[in-house]
Amino acid sequence: MKDITVGIIGGTGGMGLWFADLLKKEGHTVHVSGRKTKLSSDELAQICNVLVVSVPISATAEVIRQVGPLLNKDQLLMDLTSLKIEPLDLMMTSSAADVIGCHPLFGPGILEFKGQNVVLCPGRGTNWYSWLKTIFDKNGFNVLERTSVYHDKMMSIVQVLNHLNTISLGLALTETGHKQDEISKFSTPIFRIKLDIVKKLFTEGPGLYAEIIAGNSETEKILDIYERVIREIRQAIETEGSTGLKDKMKKAAKKLF
Ligand SMILES: NC(=O)c1ccc[n+]([C@@H]2O[C@H](COP(=O)([O-])OP(=O)(O)OC[C@H]3O[C@@H](n4cnc5c(N)ncnc54)[C@H](OP(=O)(O)O)[C@@H]3O)[C@@H](O)[C@H]2O)c1
Repeated sequence: MKDITVGIIGGTGGMGLWFADLLKKEGHTVHVSGRKTKLSSDELAQICNVLVVSVPISATAEVIRQVGPLLNKDQLLMDLTSLKIEPLDLMMTSSAADVIGCHPLFGPGILEFKGQNVVLCPGRGTNWYSWLKTIFDKNGFNVLERTSVYHDKMMSIVQVLNHLNTISLGLALTETGHKQDEISKFSTPIFRIKLDIVKKLFTEGPGLYAEIIAGNSETEKILDIYERVIREIRQAIETEGSTGLKDKMKKAAKKLF
């Protein structure tokens, strides 16, 4: 496919800007819109072959509802949202265009493409799907094709459980009443890595992580598991001390690894 013009709503920053750079490198013309750009999202829908939605999760549904109906069946509507069920359903129902749900499993700061994972959730059409997949394949990404339901289920582990764990650590650290300066004097290498992750989540746009957790339909299940595990850890320590905890970890390792 030649002479493709791509419009990225939310392409002024974050993942949208990252995707704009990748597509420009591939030789495509890219226009971006944000809340203050001269070009509006509606205008992008009119002048572009491909329209990408890459706005904060909380604004995604509204943006899709607004631009979806403006596209025709020769165009592609796709998104980069970290959750896939709702955006994909909305893209399918609001538009006649071909549809792809896309979730790059990394942030805009990655230095190397090779080995990074991207999930594609096919919606409608095959030509644009091949076009997009080829771009990721040829740049060394691992492309996984899955349904939006399966994607969100896996993200409840990789993102919801993972970020809940980091948020719990940060909140619990705060509850101890000690300042970071003092704690850091005693830090181990692993603790320093974990503290850096807590700092990133708490200070660099906590909204994204909160939305990823609150918006996943599996979050309640994950919270139930998390609470149960904490209760069981307490119980194991209280009843059997270190042996109880060690046995739990040994059993888990056999299942996990
Ligand atoms: N960051 C990540 O690590 C990551 C990874 C994978 C996927 N994602 C997904 O990528 C999407 C964007 O996330 P992000 O982290 O890149 O967000 P971001 O850094 O906050 O950037 C979002 C962009 O959207 C624009 N924007 C905000 N509200 C808007 C609205 N109502 N209408 C139009 N444009 C709007 C902003 O531009 P203006 O300020 O100029 O309006 C900004 O450039 C989300 O769906 C997220 O789940 C993020």
